[in-house]
Amino acid sequence: MKTNMPNLDWLDNPEIYQVNRLPGRIRQIEDDSSECICLNGAWAVDWFPNPRQAMDAVEKKTLKTEKSIQVPGHLQLQGFGEIQYLNKMYPWDGKEKLYPPHIPQQNPSAVYTTWFLRPVAEHVILRFDGVESCCFVWVNDVFVGYSEDSFSVAEFEITDKLADGENSLRVMVPQFCSGSWLEDQDFFRFSGIFRDVSLLCYGNEYIWDVKVHAGLDEGYSKGSLSVETEVKGEKKGLSALVRLRDSYGELVLQGSCSFSGGKYCYTGKLENPDLWTAETPVLYKLEIELRKNDDTIQASSLNIGFRKIEIRDKIILLNGRRVVFRGVNRHEFHPRKGRVLSVQDMENEIRLLKQYNFNALRTSHYPNHWALYDLCDRYGVYVIDETNLETHGTWEVLGKAVEREEILPKANPQWREAVLDRAKSLYERDKNHPSILFWSCGNESSGGKTLYEMSQLFREWDPNRLVHYEGVFNDRSYNGTSDVESRMYAKPEEIEDYLSNEPSKPFICCEYAHNMGNSLGNLDLYISLEDRFPQYQGGFIWDFIDQCLYATNFNKDEFLYSGIRFKKPNDAHFCANGLFFADLTPTPALEEAKYLMSPLGINCEDGVIRIKNRNFFTTTEGYQFIWRLLLDGRVLRWGSFSLCAEPGEEKTYLVEYSCEQEGEYVLECSGVLKNDTLWAPSGFEIGFGQGIVKIINNRKIQDKKHLQSLINCDFNTGAAMQNSHGIVSCATGELISWCGEAGEMLDAPLRPEFWRAPTDNDIGAFMPFKWHLWKTASLYQLPESYNVLEQQGKVVTKLVFPGIEDRCSIEYVFCNDDKIEITVSMYLRQHAPCFGVSFAMPKEYGYLRWYGNTQQEAYCDRKNGRRLGLAEGMVIKQMTPYEHPQECGNKTDLRWLEIKNKAGKGIRIKSEHPFEASVLPYTAHEIENAGHASGLPPHNRSVVRIIKSGYGVGGDDSWGSHVHPQYRGPIGETSLKFSLQILK
Ligand code: GAL
Ligand code: MG
Repeated sequence: MKTNMPNLDWLDNPEIYQVNRLPGRIRQIEDDSSECICLNGAWAVDWFPNPRQAMDAVEKKTLKTEKSIQVPGHLQLQGFGEIQYLNKMYPWDGKEKLYPPHIPQQNPSAVYTTWFLRPVAEHVILRFDGVESCCFVWVNDVFVGYSEDSFSVAEFEITDKLADGENSLRVMVPQFCSGSWLEDQDFFRFSGIFRDVSLLCYGNEYIWDVKVHAGLDEGYSKGSLSVETEVKGEKKGLSALVRLRDSYGELVLQGSCSFSGGKYCYTGKLENPDLWTAETPVLYKLEIELRKNDDTIQASSLNIGFRKIEIRDKIILLNGRRVVFRGVNRHEFHPRKGRVLSVQDMENEIRLLKQYNFNALRTSHYPNHWALYDLCDRYGVYVIDETNLETHGTWEVLGKAVEREEILPKANPQWREAVLDRAKSLYERDKNHPSILFWSCGNESSGGKTLYEMSQLFREWDPNRLVHYEGVFNDRSYNGTSDVESRMYAKPEEIEDYLSNEPSKPFICCEYAHNMGNSLGNLDLYISLEDRFPQYQGGFIWDFIDQCLYATNFNKDEFLYSGIRFKKPNDAHFCANGLFFADLTPTPALEEAKYLMSPLGINCEDGVIRIKNRNFFTTTEGYQFIWRLLLDGRVLRWGSFSLCAEPGEEKTYLVEYSCEQEGEYVLECSGVLKNDTLWAPSGFEIGFGQGIVKIINNRKIQDKKHLQSLINCDFNTGAAMQNSHGIVSCATGELISWCGEAGEMLDAPLRPEFWRAPTDNDIGAFMPFKWHLWKTASLYQLPESYNVLEQQGKVVTKLVFPGIEDRCSIEYVFCNDDKIEITVSMYLRQHAPCFGVSFAMPKEYGYLRWYGNTQQEAYCDRKNGRRLGLAEGMVIKQMTPYEHPQECGNKTDLRWLEIKNKAGKGIRIKSEHPFEASVLPYTAHEIENAGHASGLPPHNRSVVRIIKSGYGVGGDDSWGSHVHPQYRGPIGETSLKFSLQILK
C-alpha cells in the first residue's frame, strides 16, 4: 500500500503489513561505487505505554529525546519493558483474552530518533535489517512508511524527504502488531530495532537487484550461469558486463548482458566448474559492471557456487550424489545481546559447528542475519532457510491440537497476503546463496491452502531448490507443500516404519534429539538409519545454543538464566536445549555428537584399523591417521599413516605390535586434519576409534588378606587395618568413619543410593512421580539386621526402606592393606534411577584421577564416543553447569577412580567389572532442590556415588518419551562389588 498518512489501524489489520516499502531484493553485494552509511549507534528513545501516545508525541512534536539506546539492540535488554520467554502461549495470555487479528491494549511502544547529514547522492534508500514487531518511519517528521515482519528487510526511498544538512529520522516501534500472531516462535519475546540500519546512496542509475543461477547439466560436469540484473533509472546508454572469476581470481567467463524484460541478462557455460558442497565450499566471484556510454558507473560483486540440488528416485541428491544432513537448529542468540549478533559472533559459531562435524543448519524459525549465509557459503554448511512464520499457539493448546476458526493461516483470505509476503522477503533477500538448499515455509503453523500456495510460489520463483515444511504431518490436506517428508521428534522406530513402507518422499528430521539439560541419549539409533535407508537423509538436532541471558541486573550475579527469572507467565527453562551453553561452552553431549557426526568411522581390532569414509564428496586424503597402543591408558607405541578411501568406502590398515606386559591393551586411531582449514588448524582431530585388543592377567587369585579379628563393641564395630581404622555403627549399620594418616576421610556415611537429581527428560516423562519411592528409600533407611563375622573381618547389614518390599544387604570386608571390600545386593522389582552407594568425603578431597571412559559426562545411552584412557579432574568442575541443576558428571566404564587431596592422599575405588561413578560437590537432593544454578548450596564436601551401570538419560524428546528400554539399568537380583583402598 502507498499513502502519506500513518494510521494506527494498520496495527491490527493483517491486510496492511507494509506501506510504501520497496520490493524485496538481494541484501548483500560488494560494491565499490555506491556508498552505504551505517546508522547504528546511540539513538534517542522515548518510551510509551501504547502506540496511541507514541504516535501523538511524534505528531505533536512532544518527544523528549532525552534517554538513549543502542541500535541495534532489544529494548527489553536496555531497561525498557520486561523480558519474557514463551514457547507456545502468546505474550498476552492471562492478561487479555484475544483472538487474531486483535492485539493487546498493553502494547508498549518506543520512538527512536537519530540525526544524520544528507549524503551526497541522487537516491537515498533507508534500510532496516530487522525491527520487532513493526515500524512506522518518519524523516524530518514527514511520514515515510510502515512495515511488519520482524526478521525481514524493510527498505524505503527517502530521497524526496531529505533536506540539506541535518535530517532527523524517527522510528516508532510497538511491541505488538497483527504480525505478532505470526511470530509465535519458541523464544524470548523482545522488541526494538535489533538489526542494522543503513542508508544506501546511489546515483541516477544503479543496480537494484541481481538474480543468479549457477547450475549444472544432467551429467553434473557442465556449469551454466545465468545472471539477471535489475537496474533503476534511465536505461538509455546503459550496458552491463559480467565477469566470473574462479577461487584463484582467474577470469573464467565474461560477456555483456542483453537487455530483455526490463533486465540485463547474461548466460554462460563453464566446463567442469569446481562444485560447491559443504565439504568443498568452492566459491566463484561474479562481477557486474554497470556502464553508461563508456564509463563504469557501478561495479559490484558477489560470491556464487555451482551446485545442483534435486530429488531423484525419491532421494535428495547434491551434484548427483546422496547427501545426509548432520545438522542443528539454530536460533540467533547471545547471552548479553539476545538476537543481536555481530559477524564475529556468528563466525565463531560457524567454526564451532564445523569443528564438531556438523554440515547443516536450519534457521529456526526465521531468516537469520544476512551475514550468516555468507559464512555458510564460505565455510561449507547446508542451510534450510526458514520463513518468519509460526502460529503455534493458534492451533495447539496445552499439548492438544484444537479445531477452531482462528487457526492461522489455513486458507484465511485476510492473512494470505501477509503470510506470502514473508516468504517473498526471504526469497528475495537470500536467493543467491549456494549454501541454501531448501526454502522452508515456516514452523508449526498448521497446514492448509495458504502454505501450499507459499510452497508453489517458492517453486515458481526458484525451481532450483527444494521446499520444506514439517507442518503437513499434522494436516495432510496439502501434503504437496513439502518436497520431503519432514518430522519433528519422530522416534527411531517411527522413522524406520516410514522408511520401510515404500515412502513417497525422502525423509529428514527437521528437529530431533531434543537436547534439553542432560540429554542426547541414543543418538546413535538415529545416526544408524543413515546406512540402512538411502531415503533417510539426516536431521537437525534441537538445538545449537541455549537461549539464556546473563541477568547482571539481579544482585550483580553472573548466572545465566532461562525464562524462569523473567516476566510471568513464562516457559521456564524450555529454551535451554543447546548443544552449547549460552556462553558457547560446549555441553558434555557434544563429545558424543561429534563422534557420531564424524565423517570418519574408525574401528580398531587386534592389529587392524578399519576406516570408513562417511564424507559424500571427498576422499580421506585430507586426513592424517595416528594410531596408538595403550596399556592401561598409557601410550606404549604409536605410528601414523595416510590412506585414501573414496566417499562411502571402507579401507583397512594393519598395525604390528606385541603385548607382553600385564594389563589392558587398547588400540586407538585418530584422524586429524592434514592441512589448515578455515575452521581448524592442521592436526585438529575429526574422528577416532578404539578397541580393547588384549587383556593379560597373570595374577593368581590371591587369598583375601582380610582381618582376622574386628573390635566388636556395644555401639560400634571397629576394624584396625595396617595404617587406618574403620568404624561401622551397630545402630545404623553404616560405615561412619575411616581414619588414615591424613585423618578422617568420611564426611557422610556410606549408604545405598537409588536416587538421581531428575533430569529435564525425567521430569518431562513424570519419572520423579513414578520413582518417588526410590527417593525416600535413598533418604530414609532402617537397619533390619546387623551381623559381625569377626574372623572373616566381615560386617553384614540388611536395610529396609519405606514402601519397598525388598531388602538391601551391604557387606564390608576389612583387609589388612587398608582396603575395604564392599558388596551391595538387592532384588530390584522395578528399575531404579540408579543402584549403588554414596558417601561423602571432606572438601579437601577435591581431585580426581581415573582410568576408564574419559568422556566428561557419560551414560549408558550416551557413550558411543567412549574413549578409554587416564584422566584427571577437580570435583568442583564436575558439576555440569546446566541452568536447571540436574543429574550430571557421571563417568562410565571405570576400572578405577582415585579421590585425593592436594598432597595426593585419599582413596582408590576399584572393581573387577567396569563401574560408573560421579564425584560432585552436592548430593542428588541438594542438586534437585536448587532449582537454578544460583540456588546450589556452598561447596563443602565431595559426594561420591558409585553405581552399577545406571539409567540412561534419553534424548528423543523432553515431554514424555523416556529412556529406551535397553538403557534402564539393572533389574532383578543385582549386586555391585567394589573395593575402597587408601592410597599409599
Ligand atoms: C518444537 C519447536 C521448537 C521448540 C521445540 C521444543 O516443537 O519447533 O521451536 O519449541 O519444539 O524445544
Ligand atoms: Mg513452537
